[in-house]
Amino acid sequence: MCGIVGGVGPSIQAAEVFDGLKRLEYRGYDSAGMALVGAEGVEVIRAATGRHSLDELKGRLSRLAPGANLVVGHTRWATHGAPTLGNAHPHTDCTGRVVLVHNGIVDNFRELRGEVLALGHELKSETDSEVIAHLIEDGLAAGMEPAEAVASVFSRLLGHMALVVAFAQLPLTIFGIRRTSPLLVAAGDGRSFFASDAPAVLDVATSFYEMPEDRVIAIGEPAKGAAGTSVLVPLAIDWASQDVELVGYQSFYEMELAQEGEAFSDTVSSLIDEDGGAVVDELKVDPYELKRLRKVTVVGCGTSYHAGLVGRFLIEHFAKIPVEVDVASEYRYRDPILDDDHLVVGVSQSGESLDTITAVKGAAAAGAKTLAVTNVIGSQLSRLADAVLYTRAGPEVSVASTKTHVSQVGALALFAIYLGELKGHMYPEEAREARSSLRDVASAIEAALARQAGYEESLAPFVGSDRFFFIGRNLQYPVALEGALKLKELSYLAAEAYPAGELKHGPIAMLDSEAVVVALVPRDRLREKVLANIEEVRARGARVIVVAFDGDPEAATLAETALFVPEVRPIWSPLVTVIPLQVMAGAIARSRGLNLDRPRNLAKTVTVE
Ligand code: AGP
Repeated sequence: MCGIVGGVGPSIQAAEVFDGLKRLEYRGYDSAGMALVGAEGVEVIRAATGRHSLDELKGRLSRLAPGANLVVGHTRWATHGAPTLGNAHPHTDCTGRVVLVHNGIVDNFRELRGEVLALGHELKSETDSEVIAHLIEDGLAAGMEPAEAVASVFSRLLGHMALVVAFAQLPLTIFGIRRTSPLLVAAGDGRSFFASDAPAVLDVATSFYEMPEDRVIAIGEPAKGAAGTSVLVPLAIDWASQDVELVGYQSFYEMELAQEGEAFSDTVSSLIDEDGGAVVDELKVDPYELKRLRKVTVVGCGTSYHAGLVGRFLIEHFAKIPVEVDVASEYRYRDPILDDDHLVVGVSQSGESLDTITAVKGAAAAGAKTLAVTNVIGSQLSRLADAVLYTRAGPEVSVASTKTHVSQVGALALFAIYLGELKGHMYPEEAREARSSLRDVASAIEAALARQAGYEESLAPFVGSDRFFFIGRNLQYPVALEGALKLKELSYLAAEAYPAGELKHGPIAMLDSEAVVVALVPRDRLREKVLANIEEVRARGARVIVVAFDGDPEAATLAETALFVPEVRPIWSPLVTVIPLQVMAGAIARSRGLNLDRPRNLAKTVTVE
């Protein structure tokens, strides 16, 4: 999704804002641009060469005069209008003295576009964003102060978005405003920044602040009619600049995969106290409210949804509460029956996925309690929920999630144990023992990761295949879904996931000798059933890969290749069986010469519907 970086203050370098945009590359983009604003006017450079746009922009940075005091930059993920040069941000008004960058969608854009055209403005792009610049121009022409014009126009815009605006007449001030979409303020060395995400400004800022919604904030020199930074709430960002540097690996995907054991361990350790008890990072309601819960719904998107599916088994197992899990974009348009003994859990790495935020917001408005499981401190999801569990995975740059997935499952497991204890289904000693055994899974994750080269060697005969099916039952079905998603995202191959018992109800018709079936068969209570399902697959001539616990030769005899993982308790098995599948997706994508970090068409943080 679009990324915004804007900086103001003594000698802001265009290169610094450019570096911020580089660090937002993971959000996904297809064009980019920057503007330098001075009293004499606005200079804009843009590039629209897909994922090479920033490289192209870099070659032209020297065209922006050095020693400026105000620079705004943008990476665009096309929504209204193709990713062309004309549609790339920043956009300006007819005078060229109002410049803005925008993230999100203006829902009433058609009506507003008609209005500005009727008023005689000349539109240079097909975007919804440019229309805003012309409306602000009208506000100024009507005698409004810049901040007033921004506020007045923003109040007319329907939808979720973030906007950063600068004016040639005020070259030492930038204005920002947001509704649901992410935007934060950062400061350091006497300079101030707006950014979509903290990693963009980690190397230039030392303090970070939340932005309120629907309120114009001015950074730089104070401006009439706008709130200054003094009204902002500080954010405790504990990531360091080097956390987002690629060191020792070809891609962030590979680096983050290798960090998975540490991410899981840091997450789980931070949610267990010195006595082996539970920690909830932010609990804004009385624990009694959680004790009386009678139903839990988990919502999320993509990989986070899959973590939620694992969470369902864990919560039902430990806390004996009925759990349903839904894709956030579906849940938000249902008419769920909610009340105050119902908990809705939003799982989101970024804490900024619009679908998840709106699903959780809707549940809160309907009276449910809410919990956020997120990797980003101060993200919107964390701010709106009644309680928060942070995953401590560190920044995840690769679009395809790895280390945050196991961290989410770890956090949900601890929440399940916490609820189990709170509701009296577990004695404190039992809960402590369960936490301790979960913590030990970190070494099994590390051991599985250490087998990466072996997995890749075993998978070599399959890298040319183009049809994959992932099957598993019970706790392994979400793992199958995650394996298929990783392969789809990274390799663009057809990959389907099914509950193993469901194959014979239809999908088995697709199997032939070209199909590869990856069967997840750890030693658990459904192992025999899955082995029988593998026999069904073999009988149709499909090639089979099994993922099994160490010391399970029987599973291996049914397959062309076996990927063994260290044995853990069956209830923790999704934390280790997912690893060979993450390795597999990376290996196949690499063999196809694809970019592991920025797969085509995808954005890391999906801030539009
Ligand atoms: C993960 O590999 C995907 N890129 C995607 O499915 C992601 O999990 C989804 O968009 C949700 O993002 P979130 O966790 O930041 O909410």
